[in-house]
Amino acid sequence: MSVLICGGAGYIGSHNVRAFKAHGEDVIVIDNLYTGHKASLPEDVKFYEGDIRDGKILDKIFTENKIEAVVHFCAFSLVGESVEEPLKYFDNNVGGMISLLEAMQRNDVKKIIFSSSAATYGEPKKVPILETDPTNPTNPYGESKLIMEKMMKWVSRRYDIRYVSLRYFNVAGAWHDGSIGEDHRHETHLVPIILQVPLGKRPHVTVYGDDYPTKDGTCIRDYVHVEDLARAHILALEYLRNGGESNIFNLGSGDGYSVMEMINAARKATGQDIAVEIGARRAGDPAKLVADSNKAHEILKWQPEITRMEDIIASAWKWHKGHPNGYAD
Ligand code: UFG
Repeated sequence: MSVLICGGAGYIGSHNVRAFKAHGEDVIVIDNLYTGHKASLPEDVKFYEGDIRDGKILDKIFTENKIEAVVHFCAFSLVGESVEEPLKYFDNNVGGMISLLEAMQRNDVKKIIFSSSAATYGEPKKVPILETDPTNPTNPYGESKLIMEKMMKWVSRRYDIRYVSLRYFNVAGAWHDGSIGEDHRHETHLVPIILQVPLGKRPHVTVYGDDYPTKDGTCIRDYVHVEDLARAHILALEYLRNGGESNIFNLGSGDGYSVMEMINAARKATGQDIAVEIGARRAGDPAKLVADSNKAHEILKWQPEITRMEDIIASAWKWHKGHPNGYAD
């Protein structure tokens, strides 16, 4: 039996492909290569280029292979763009989930692991955030992920499909050998942006606001290494294999680091000074987002292993230094 990884050529998907293979799973990938990179895939992985909104290609995959479970990463994920083009997000993210669940139901596939987000919570009333805390997304991206979770809930009740939804906090880092990593055409994430300074691609990093009610005035986030994150997906599959019921888990380290602390960690990891400019706040940024990941620890037995920010950034640096132009190199 194989595991179908939808969106396996993207940043988080490609790290999961490696991790599942290293764990001995037979992996099949579908990706429309809209934001993903074929070069991120190992050569021996069976790859279908296509869009999960196309039920025909899903039926073809489910017919040509024996698929035990689906791991679903296909989504647009730019918060700002989602505010500008909400229907693009609902069409791709929600539409993709409808098509995928329909195909799973048609083809009798019963397990799905879903890439959800802390964006489902919106502005939290308290931190650390628990899975049972209110979900009030503040942008269409987060709303689309919440709708996708709710769709799985109702479909699982009707068709005996079981799901695990993993709500990621801030994912960073790269595969330990530096061979794959983050490469977005339009980069918005803090760690790759910081590293563009020592790469000579930007003169400084702009800190979006230093007047937040935090220890140094800059926003606090919960960063988790992409390899630790991938391990949680494997544990989620084992959990479903062992009969676990449908469930939702936060994935974060439980520790918060400020933007300035991340920049300082990057200075240590790269051995270079990184120039900083203080800019205005970015619309919609909560001051502090930190996960309570005890549920994942207790039930999935998951715990992040790479917890020093310097180590997370050093792994990203290894990838970026070796591939200053990403997969174009
Ligand atoms: N930041 C800067 N300068 C930059 C880029 C980011 O100061 O050039 C700051 C942001 O203001 C924020 C922090 O760095 O305080 C992290 O920003 P990211 O854009 O890297 O990540 P976010 O916390 O905004 O986003 C993450 C996920 C999203 C998810 C969101 C909400 O990447 O997918 O959390 O949960 F939607």
